[in-house]
Amino acid sequence: MYRIGQEEIDAVARAILSRDFFKINGSGQEVLRFEEEWKAFTGEDYALLMTSGYAALASALIGMGIGPGDEVIVPAYTYIATALAVLEVGAIPVIADTDETLTLSAEDTERKITPRTKAIIPVHIQGFPSDMDGLKSVAARHGVKILEDACQSAGGTYHGQPLGSIGDAGAFSFNYFKIITSGEGGALTTNDRTIYERALIYHDASAVAFFGSQLDGISEPLFGGREYRVSDLTGAILREQLRRLPSLRADLKRIQRELADRIGGTLTVAPSHDFEGDTGTTLALRFGSEAETRRFTARCAERGIGLTVPIDTGKHVYTNWTQVMEKRGALHPLMDPYKMEANRGASCDYTPDMCRKALDLLARTAYLAISPDWTEADVGHVADVLLGRK
Ligand SMILES: Cc1ncc(COP(=O)(O)O)c(C=O)c1O
Repeated sequence: MYRIGQEEIDAVARAILSRDFFKINGSGQEVLRFEEEWKAFTGEDYALLMTSGYAALASALIGMGIGPGDEVIVPAYTYIATALAVLEVGAIPVIADTDETLTLSAEDTERKITPRTKAIIPVHIQGFPSDMDGLKSVAARHGVKILEDACQSAGGTYHGQPLGSIGDAGAFSFNYFKIITSGEGGALTTNDRTIYERALIYHDASAVAFFGSQLDGISEPLFGGREYRVSDLTGAILREQLRRLPSLRADLKRIQRELADRIGGTLTVAPSHDFEGDTGTTLALRFGSEAETRRFTARCAERGIGLTVPIDTGKHVYTNWTQVMEKRGALHPLMDPYKMEANRGASCDYTPDMCRKALDLLARTAYLAISPDWTEADVGHVADVLLGRK
């Protein structure tokens, strides 16, 4: 969470005092209005606000018609929710290595594609854009869909295009840790009418047919789904958060860029597919060895500047995805994709060392979390500590 205050409090108070904050009711319509604003912000034709980024990922996969018998490629470095969303729809997550930027490698993605592959999920981790040009050519060559996991990258761009609007669909998270937040929340965006209609039905399974006119003009037949609907309280907070996003992003980016400039000749900033496009939440430094990384982060920590070595970030690293690595996709065996007949022979011989490049890079990278509220003096102090001058 970065910036939040009276505007969000007032917006929620208005929604509560209206006594009318179910998504479809007449007075506030905060969810529907946020969806309109999120469409405008991302430049997409359709947007659905829902309970989480996970819900948005799963709803998008359902929208793409993905299910048992299918494989979906995910990167070795992402929050476990990306892989779990694939299991929710009955498909098998196939784990591919990263490139030097710690995002999905186009090369390894192509190597892992089989006749079962139906989609790939590039994750713009820490707000760093994936290699969308490379991944788009791979996807086009093999006729597979792209679902962008933009859960950590609201407001970022790739060659000028908003992250989450480049593939066939995008998923965003608004949980507490994200750039804009409603505590919990997520959004799906797409230009594809079929993905939208199916995701609309899936994410709001019981209410979609009974409240308001949500099904007007929808041609997909109703099917059973989930209850990932949110109330107008979520919409009200997020409308205010979205208003803050452009200046928040500008401040993050300005500070991150200034730090990168100051340390540039001495320390190595990790490579990026679009440094100007990333969200600015993180400065990524790269070292020659894990020992060097640890010495650097220990020295900075002694001087009050905490950096994270991403190999330490638990469920963001595939080796720690216990239920995936041990192939327990659901409690009930008949609902477990790993035990389904349709998935027999799928590519899921997971081993701890299968994505060595990611493991090596994760141990040789240090992330500095940027505060958008650092002053010039703060930035100077942080730079001095990073450079060993303090
Ligand atoms: C890369 C990534 N994907 C998916 C998710 C899932 O989002 P949520 O927690 O909103 O379900 C997260 C959230 O932590 C994430 O960081």
